Amino acid sequence: MDAKKIPVSEAESSPAAALFPSVASVSERFAAVHYVCSREAATAVYLMVQLQRPLLVEGPPGVGKTELAKVLAQTTGYELLRLQCYEGLDESKALYEWEYSKQLLYVQMLKDKLGELLAQATSLEEAVRRLQQQAGAFFSEPFLLPRPLLQAIRAPQPVVLLIDEIDRADQEFEAFLLEVLSDFQVTIPELGTLRARQRPLVVLTSNATRSLSEALKRRCFYLYLDHPTPAVELEIVRRKVPGIDERLAAQLVQFVQRVRRLALRKTPSISETLDWARALVVLGADSLSRELLAATLNLLLKDKADLDLVRREALA
Ligand SMILES: Nc1ncnc2c1ncn2[C@@H]1O[C@H](COP(=O)(O)OP(=O)(O)OP(=O)(O)O)[C@@H](O)[C@H]1O
Ligand SMILES: [Mg+2]
Repeated sequence: MDAKKIPVSEAESSPAAALFPSVASVSERFAAVHYVCSREAATAVYLMVQLQRPLLVEGPPGVGKTELAKVLAQTTGYELLRLQCYEGLDESKALYEWEYSKQLLYVQMLKDKLGELLAQATSLEEAVRRLQQQAGAFFSEPFLLPRPLLQAIRAPQPVVLLIDEIDRADQEFEAFLLEVLSDFQVTIPELGTLRARQRPLVVLTSNATRSLSEALKRRCFYLYLDHPTPAVELEIVRRKVPGIDERLAAQLVQFVQRVRRLALRKTPSISETLDWARALVVLGADSLSRELLAATLNLLLKDKADLDLVRREALA
């Protein structure tokens, strides 16, 4: 087959290392785009960048796992490539596939040309051989549909690759991912071996709905993001809801932290705290009265049993 090779080169050290010369520089750059980082999170980001290792971020919903990858892209200026995982995700959706409809269209348009070629064939075997000789034209760059993993490998500039919610993908996909994460190299039979020019900064996230393989964890640095401490949550509210009254911010964070200690079906996340804070600002509140709390609790809790429990326990 007439395979066209795409040039490859050795992976180089990440230029992002110079952007984050210390753990403190991660916290500062992230804070500048309103992402509040614990020291543990800033250290994990610093090390993944310096040592070029993927970072696996695990934790409950809404604690800033996806946002961390977005902010990493924002602060480095790298393009963010996102692979959203789901049950049944396979290589063709994650790595590449051939653009079948385009191939078909070209075959239709080249019908006459192909007819001429095959007309000279004296046997079926010869016709097949002649067709095979032309197949390279249809399995070539213009018909390739690169998906996020291949896009990351072929990117001329370094990128942030977010593999979001890996726990939703099947274990077979996780095994395939291991290979990609080990050497950032893939072989496409028709095109040859492609290797990343620059290792992407890889962030994997998981809600821990199932445990991930030891092999995957071994290849990654690990960060568990939990619900924030009161001080961190207050800082997030201040940064993300500008103009909020100081007293209101302190009261609502204190309330959310108290509610999280209850045995709820769905513990409120930072997203809910922020939605609630923004709603209270829109309502013109400068403090959290009992009436206001009772009237807006449904912004924080989105489950009937949880609402009942909090009304009983926290508003009694
Ligand atoms: N440390 C933080 N600093 C600032 N904002 C934050 C922080 N953590 C979370 N947020 C806010 O919370 C929102 C939810 O975060 P994100 O979508 O990253 O959660 P997640 O952990 O990926 O949740 P899920 O598991 O449901 O996907 C973000 O849009 C962001 O505004
Ligand atoms: Mg997410």
